[in-house]
Amino acid sequence: MRVITFGTFDVFHIGHVNILERAKELGSYLIVGVSSDQLNIKKKGRPPIYSQSDRLKIVESLHCVDKVFLEESLEKKAEYIKLYKADILVMGSDWEGKFDQFKSICDVQYFPRTEGISTSQIIDIVKHHVEV
Ligand code: CTP
Repeated sequence: MRVITFGTFDVFHIGHVNILERAKELGSYLIVGVSSDQLNIKKKGRPPIYSQSDRLKIVESLHCVDKVFLEESLEKKAEYIKLYKADILVMGSDWEGKFDQFKSICDVQYFPRTEGISTSQIIDIVKHHVEV
């Protein structure tokens, strides 16, 4: 089974490792779409802290990940699922229900998020609690 998931994976943390490892356990081949800097600027109004090439390299270095690619448009999810011949789409529970439209082309599963950690929270802590 081929599994696909998407994310920014900025300021890489344990929640990212957990979801990728769990996604891989569903199949034998894990494909990860890492969202581009441009896509993040559009979504969040700022670029990620780590560049897309660094984020791609970090995610690709994990032993549970077999293939990475740059996700350049949110509208292309169905195209990517078909292109990479994914059988299962995995997303974190923050996306619960939001990808159900892809159930016609693959199985869609939502995993609970790792509690107590997120990229935004880390950025916030570093911004407000560390004097430089
Ligand atoms: N994720 C998770 N547990 C966390 C944080 C993220 O399972 N504690 C999952 C998300 O649900 C998503 C993937 O990791 O499927 C990539 O998430 P991403 O948005 O890159 O990370 P966040 O930490 O959620 O980033 P932000 O705080 O900027 O939203």
